[in-house]
Amino acid sequence: MPSNEELLAELAALRTTDLPTRGGRTLAHVYDSGLPCLDGLATAAYSAFAPVNGLDTAAFPSVVRLENEVVSFVARLLGGDAATRGSFTGGGTESILLAVRAAREHSRAVRGVTEPELVAPDTAHAAFRKAAHYLGLRLVTVPTDPSSCVPDPADMAAAITERTALVAVSAPSHAHGVLDPVAETANAAAERGVWCHVDACVGGMVLPFLRRLGHELPDFDLSVPGVRSLSVDLHKYGFAHGGASVVLYRDGELRRHQYFSSTDWPGHPVVHPTAQGTRSAGPLAAAWAVLRRLDEEGYTELAATAIGATEEIVAGINGIDGLRVVGAPAATLLCVASEHADPLHVADEMRERGWFLRTQLSFGAHRRNLHLTVTPATAPRVPELLSDLADSVRAAAALPSPDPAPDLAAAVAALDADTVSSEDLASVLDAAGLDRSAGGLPSRTAPLLALLDGAPTALRERLLTELTGSLLTGSGL
Ligand SMILES: Cc1ncc(COP(=O)(O)O)c(C=O)c1O
Repeated sequence: MPSNEELLAELAALRTTDLPTRGGRTLAHVYDSGLPCLDGLATAAYSAFAPVNGLDTAAFPSVVRLENEVVSFVARLLGGDAATRGSFTGGGTESILLAVRAAREHSRAVRGVTEPELVAPDTAHAAFRKAAHYLGLRLVTVPTDPSSCVPDPADMAAAITERTALVAVSAPSHAHGVLDPVAETANAAAERGVWCHVDACVGGMVLPFLRRLGHELPDFDLSVPGVRSLSVDLHKYGFAHGGASVVLYRDGELRRHQYFSSTDWPGHPVVHPTAQGTRSAGPLAAAWAVLRRLDEEGYTELAATAIGATEEIVAGINGIDGLRVVGAPAATLLCVASEHADPLHVADEMRERGWFLRTQLSFGAHRRNLHLTVTPATAPRVPELLSDLADSVRAAAALPSPDPAPDLAAAVAALDADTVSSEDLASVLDAAGLDRSAGGLPSRTAPLLALLDGAPTALRERLLTELTGSLLTGSGL
């Protein structure tokens, strides 16, 4: 039997192959406050509650207290009042799934909707597509303007029908970081008695503090009367460890439709407020500790640092030939178009210089582009980031196109997503550079991503499924 020390050393060694989660050079996936004191606190709180089962509120009353305090903190920030209710969930996707489920049940009970539809701008987070898919709603997407990246409020209103169970808007959107027309959409929904959800997963812990700092922002939260629910992630700009989000409802009557309970089986009586059954209370305790430690003052300071860095980055990017910030970002997420150098190469070049930027594939009028999530930890590194970005753009512009060679492109074009076999997809991925034996993606991902980018959506999705499945083989130990 290996010793504890040996196992922990093995885990530490594994981490060395990962992206750094701290230090401000990873501009996706991680949210770094840049305050080392927070990590120690969150980790200690996490371990203290890791063995507590958050499912059983009677057995573990500590969970009730922590959850109520966390929910009331975010409700106060986001336009809630004494009637507001909420739930602590495992993440943004779960919060969205729950809100969609509650809206679907509510529309059936109150308005008799039997063939429910979910209306959202085409920029809504993929979690809404997943919710529609899992929960049997038809997704109705409203096109967004290619330069502002937001939908016309009149188009949102026109898409709402008697079948609409829920209309969703983002504050801000993930892909472009822009604010959807929340109040106009919520008002149009309210006039038809339809549920409006605000996805503030990424913005809910930044926008209220930007406002406090004097930034002019339209109303986007529960202060808008037609908004019935709102999702906000604490594991993003709440700077909590992963697995921490909140879904808020205007009142308990709306939230009731989220809960699931069953006594129709031979085991113990079941009530599941969220999608999970047994769940560790670790993420809740860690989020609670970080909220208490930072409080509104700490979050305001962090928002000031992050927005200052974002503004500096925007100015720097606009000074780099061929780069352009897309839309008018409302907070700290940026979508950057690269006109001369292929953005997939730019991301690879940045990776070689120690930075991680995400790439987004072509969508509608948008060519593939770069995505940056700016957190306070990046602030001291902005000059270095901009200089490496300028170098990366120059280096990328000198590279040949990452698009597949004509024979590979023709092979991909001949594939039908509905009938193609896993083996055929695997050989296409291998030809584009996937190195299965290395147990991960190649260090330069541009050819693989370019292959995906050139494929129709359904085939892209099959290729991604194949790619991930080929890495997660369940072999080892
Ligand atoms: C706007 C928005 N909504 C939903 C999500 C999904 O959140 P999660 O990844 O926590 O499930 C994200 C994640 O980035 C997001 O930015």
